[in-house]
Amino acid sequence: MFDYRVKNAEEIPTPALLVYKDVVAQNIRAIGDMMGGYARLRPHIKTHKMSQIARMEMDEGIDKFKCATPKEAAMLVAIGATDVLISYHIVGANIGRVVDLKRLYPDTDLKVIADDRDAIQALSDACTSAGVSLGVMVDVNTGMDRTGALPGAPSLVLAQQIAQASGLHFVGLHVYDGHVGDFDGDMREKTAFESIERAVETRCLIAQSGIEVEKVVASGSPGFEHTQRVDGVDEVSPGTWIFWDTSYGEKLESPFQWAALVLSSVISTTRENLITLDAGSKSIAPDTPVPHFRMIGLPDEIVFVRRNEEHQLLQLPEGTPRPRVGDQFYLVPRHVCTTVNLWDEVCVIDENGMFVETWAVDARGH
Ligand SMILES: Cc1ncc(COP(=O)(O)O)c(C=O)c1O
Repeated sequence: MFDYRVKNAEEIPTPALLVYKDVVAQNIRAIGDMMGGYARLRPHIKTHKMSQIARMEMDEGIDKFKCATPKEAAMLVAIGATDVLISYHIVGANIGRVVDLKRLYPDTDLKVIADDRDAIQALSDACTSAGVSLGVMVDVNTGMDRTGALPGAPSLVLAQQIAQASGLHFVGLHVYDGHVGDFDGDMREKTAFESIERAVETRCLIAQSGIEVEKVVASGSPGFEHTQRVDGVDEVSPGTWIFWDTSYGEKLESPFQWAALVLSSVISTTRENLITLDAGSKSIAPDTPVPHFRMIGLPDEIVFVRRNEEHQLLQLPEGTPRPRVGDQFYLVPRHVCTTVNLWDEVCVIDENGMFVETWAVDARGH
């Protein structure tokens, strides 16, 4: 395993989110190797929310991005990204934010997704009165049942509406296959193909109706490896690969390595075998089943006894050498995306294992 120890860790006030720059660079190279380059990659930047990392991606040749919030989109266009898809349903006051962004950056290819007639009409009204043209992709529900129009006729009807709406232009189909996540690799491949087939059939239906479908954008980290090979899919949009985490790491074979860890200190040792860390639910996202992280250098049989905002109480297995107050531990988040969103800045670790600078998590929040 990569040696995550930071040589000057005593200089870092804990808890802290560490980002290993070299590992990020390796992950970027690894995904390029998997995909034969970056032409079909549209990484979802909701995992890192950082302009510094988006710049690293751009420096390697990644030229299109997906994001979830208007704030993330604003961060991307501000650093010169020219092709940005907000893969989120823009309604209410957020319409004004997106239209303002398009007005400020008229040359940026800015796109959103939609699955509802009224929402499309509202976007059209706002874009028409602002005098801008916004790209819209129909979000297709291929099995996750979170958002999206049903494949086939319901998606076609929305494509027709967008194609005819003033202030909008139809770009294609967006699919997020979050239901593709089986532990078993063959099963995962099968679910991914079944899911994307529905979108590709819908693409054909829309094309047959005379509407040009410029692109289909699909998939997250568990499915992209398979969907990228399907005819009719133009781009894939995984996000977690950039930092990786234990929830995916435990079930997927992949070349990605953990690149964002939380450094935490022991702040109390109340009883024998009980230790308290300074990384509670404000440091590592608690939106998964326990354990919310894996500890490097301690046995996996640790009992996660209790967790508060600033505290994590752990029971160590019998015979484990007792850590002392002040000892530091490296925690690998189970869900890295929501963990990153808890931090204003990260501590950057260079290729020599040294903490060298901090980077802002520019787009944290919404
Ligand atoms: C719409 C959308 N696209 C892509 C992704 C990226 O997926 P992953 O984090 O599995 O890489 C997500 C993740 O939540 C998502 O919601």
